Amino acid sequence: IRKIGVLTSGGDAPGMNPCVRAIVRYGISKGCEVYAVYEGYQGLVDNGIKRMDWKDVRGFLSIGGTNIGTARCMPFKTREGRLQAAQNLIKSGVDSLIVCGGDGSLTGADVFRSEWSGLNEELLKNDRITKEESDAYQHLTIVGLVGSIDNDMSSTDITIGAVTSLHRICEAVDSIATTALSHSRAFVVEVMGRHCGWLALAAGIATGADFVFIPERPPTEENWQDTLCSVAHRHRQLGKRKTVVIVAEGALDKNLKPIKADDIKDILSERLGLDTRVTTLGHTQRGGAPAAFDRILATIQSVEAVDAVLKSTPETPSPMIGMNSNKVTSGPLMKAVELTHEVAKSIGEKNFARAMELRDPQFVE
Ligand code: F6P
Repeated sequence: IRKIGVLTSGGDAPGMNPCVRAIVRYGISKGCEVYAVYEGYQGLVDNGIKRMDWKDVRGFLSIGGTNIGTARCMPFKTREGRLQAAQNLIKSGVDSLIVCGGDGSLTGADVFRSEWSGLNEELLKNDRITKEESDAYQHLTIVGLVGSIDNDMSSTDITIGAVTSLHRICEAVDSIATTALSHSRAFVVEVMGRHCGWLALAAGIATGADFVFIPERPPTEENWQDTLCSVAHRHRQLGKRKTVVIVAEGALDKNLKPIKADDIKDILSERLGLDTRVTTLGHTQRGGAPAAFDRILATIQSVEAVDAVLKSTPETPSPMIGMNSNKVTSGPLMKAVELTHEVAKSIGEKNFARAMELRDPQFVE
């Protein structure tokens, strides 16, 4: 019998609960035992591992966040922490892990798997596990699911939670628009996304914003302030009573200096005389019920993740479940992590085309 552990890690994302639900129920239907690891990797270190029953995930589909908890776990970043995690896993009998998280969490998962035989050996040497346990747990199967509102992972078109977050941002900008229009004001709205501009760009298109700042394509001009003012001014001359600028939290200028919402506000007020306010949407973007799309994405990808566990062999590299051209895909996790880091680097080098190419590689198996 396969004993599958599931954990959610990093920033929570709407859709993580539907992942846990689908893994538990599909896993049970396939004859597996399914265990929830509470509080992300912290639960591995602290032995927060609990067997899940069919009814334990009742109602999970429509609940935002993650009911099994998440954490940005420091102890797991140390070898001693991972050693303790390996011991707890072996003692609990869990032989495979499905990790739902962002790029950092999936990198952690792959490090854990690559170190596994060394950890196993060290535990045996120090009498922390028996010879039988060591032999039975020579390999650890890991499968990655990408849960992140940022949509910043390479090798998948969309990450679990991003669409819900985008919708939340659109609702907020729509609300801001009515008050902006009433007062003839300008608003600068800062959105999340870390080093990725997907949320900002997509929200800009969906709300008809006047201007958008994203990290992937910094303004080409030294004086982007002039361009911003001329666009905002032109729109006003066309009769618009409101100005909305969306800025990604990771937005950069030509010299890779951060562009901040307050700087944009000062420019609009001082140079155009616009009565300007800043709204930082913050964690409202991450909260609330998952949209239907994220419930479906989480469910079908989780089924694929359980199937990936069932067909894995010691030779298969850890897979990451993605979605490419509307199809659920499975590709090497480490490759996706490497490409994601390259994207971040190429953004630093101002290479937008390369960044986009890396984000959507043809990696489908
Ligand atoms: O990765 C998700 C995310 O919400 C980012 O968009 C944001 O930069 C970060 O997490 C915020 O992290 P925290 O919730 O730890 O403040």
